[in-house]
Amino acid sequence: MTTVAVVLAAGKGTRMRSAIPKVLHPLGGLPLLGHVMKTARTVADRLVVVVSPGADAVRDVAAADDVVFVDQVEQLGTGHAVSCALAEIDHADRIVVLYGDVPLLRPETLARLVKDVPAGALGIVTAEVADPFGFGRMVRDETGRVCRIVEEKDASSAERAIREINSGIYAIPGSRIADWIGTLNNENAQGEYYLTDIVAMAAKEGVSVETVIAAGEEEVAGINDRVQLAVLERALQARRAEALMRAGVTLADPARVDVRGTLEVGPDSSIDIDCVFEGDVRLGAGVRIAAHCVIKNAVIGDGVEIEAFTHIEGAHVGASARVGPYARLREGTELGARTKIGNFVETKQTRLGEGSKANHLAYLGNATVGADSNIGAGTITCNYDGVTKHPTVIGDGAFVGSNSTLVAPVELGKGAYVGAGSSVTKKVPDGTLAVGRAKQRNIEGWRSPKARLSDDD
Ligand code: UD1
Ligand code: CA
Repeated sequence: MTTVAVVLAAGKGTRMRSAIPKVLHPLGGLPLLGHVMKTARTVADRLVVVVSPGADAVRDVAAADDVVFVDQVEQLGTGHAVSCALAEIDHADRIVVLYGDVPLLRPETLARLVKDVPAGALGIVTAEVADPFGFGRMVRDETGRVCRIVEEKDASSAERAIREINSGIYAIPGSRIADWIGTLNNENAQGEYYLTDIVAMAAKEGVSVETVIAAGEEEVAGINDRVQLAVLERALQARRAEALMRAGVTLADPARVDVRGTLEVGPDSSIDIDCVFEGDVRLGAGVRIAAHCVIKNAVIGDGVEIEAFTHIEGAHVGASARVGPYARLREGTELGARTKIGNFVETKQTRLGEGSKANHLAYLGNATVGADSNIGAGTITCNYDGVTKHPTVIGDGAFVGSNSTLVAPVELGKGAYVGAGSSVTKKVPDGTLAVGRAKQRNIEGWRSPKARLSDDD
C-alpha cells in the first residue's frame, strides 16, 4: 500500500500582509511548507501539494522527485482543495491530509495516525485545547464515538463548548475518498466545501472513525499572521533547546538560543545567551561558546572555545582552537588544532596549520599558513587586485611582524621573518628576514610649526 500525503497550500495568507506566500515564511530557518513536507515524508511515499495557480515560488521551493503539484484555481474550501488532488490518488492508496500552515505536528503523532489507525478506517488527529474558538469541534455520540465535525460558524452553543478540536490532519482510505468528496456540498455558514463533512459520511456508512490525540497544542496550531508565526517560532525553539539540553549541552538560558537549521552536538558543550545557529552546524565535545555568537554551516572541533561576538560561516575549526572575541571566520576557513584567532581578525578561504595564531586585527584571505606561525597584529593579505584573488603561502614557524601587507601572490618560507610594517611583494626564502619598509630617517635641527611661529615673534 502506498501512502500519499496531500498537503493543502493554496491559501492566500492575506493576514500575513506579505509579498511572500504564507507557506514560505521561515520558521526555525525552514519555510512552513518545508516543515510539513519533512514530517509528511516520515510516513508518505509520495506528496501531492495543492497550490494556487501562479504560485511559482512555492513550486520552486517544494519541487522534488516525490512531489507533484496540483492547482486549486478557486478557493472553495478544504474539501474542494482535496478534490483537486483526486486525479493523483489511487484507490489502493492511503491518503494523509496535512495543512501547509500547520508546521509543528510531531512525526510521532503522524506515525500514530498511520500505524495505530487501521488503513480502512478514517483517522483524525485531534487535540484538547483551552480555547477552541475558530476550530472545528469533534462531536461524539453517547457511546463516545465520533459522528461528525461541526465548524465554529455552524455550531450550536452546546457544540461550541466542546474542547476537543479537529486539527485538520486525517488518514483517509483511498477506496472511499473520491465518493465522499464527490458528495460534499457547500450548504453551510461559510458556503464552502468542507472536508470535515466526510466524517459524518464515514460514520453513517459504518466506516470506523478513530482519533489520535496530539501531545501538545502547538502541534495542531496553524499560522495565519505574524503574531502566530512568532508564537510558534518560540515553541519550536523551546523544543530544540530542550533537545540540546537532553543531548548534554548546557544552555545559559534555553529561551535565548536560536537554532535555524540543524545543530548536532557532542557532550558537555555549553552555549551562553543569544547565540544563533544557522544551516548545518556540528559541535564536538566540550565546546564552549560565549554570548552573542552567530555560527552558520560550520564544524567546530572538540574543546574549542569561541569568545563573545564571534561570527563563523562555512568554516572548520580544529580541536582546542580559540576564536574571538569579535572574530569573523568566513567561507572556506580551516583552522587547525590549537590555533588562535583573536579580536577583529577576519579569515576567508584560509587554512591555518596547527598551533598558528593571528591574535589581533588581521585579514587573511586565500592564505595557507603552516603550523606554529605567528601572524602579527594588523597583517593584511592583499589578495585581490580588483579582478582576481591571489594566494599567500606561509610556511611552518613563520613570524609576520605587525602591520605588514603581504601582496599576493606571494610566499613566505619556513621560519621566514617579516619585519613590522613591511610590504612584502616577493618570495621570502626559508629562515630569511624580510624588511620591506622605508628606512627611518631622523632629521636633525627640525623645528615644529609651533616652534617656527615663536621664531617670527
Ligand atoms: C479547518 C477545518 C477545521 C479545523 C481547522 C484546523 C474545515 C472545513 N475545517 O478550518 O475543522 O479545526 O482547519 O486548523 O476543513 N485551504 C486550501 N484551499 C481552500 C481552503 C483551504 O488550500 O480552498 C488550505 C488553507 O491554505 C489552510 C488549510 O487548507 O492551509 C485550512 O484552511 P482554513 O480555511 O484555514 O480552515 P479553517 O477554517 O481553519
Ligand atoms: Ca475557512
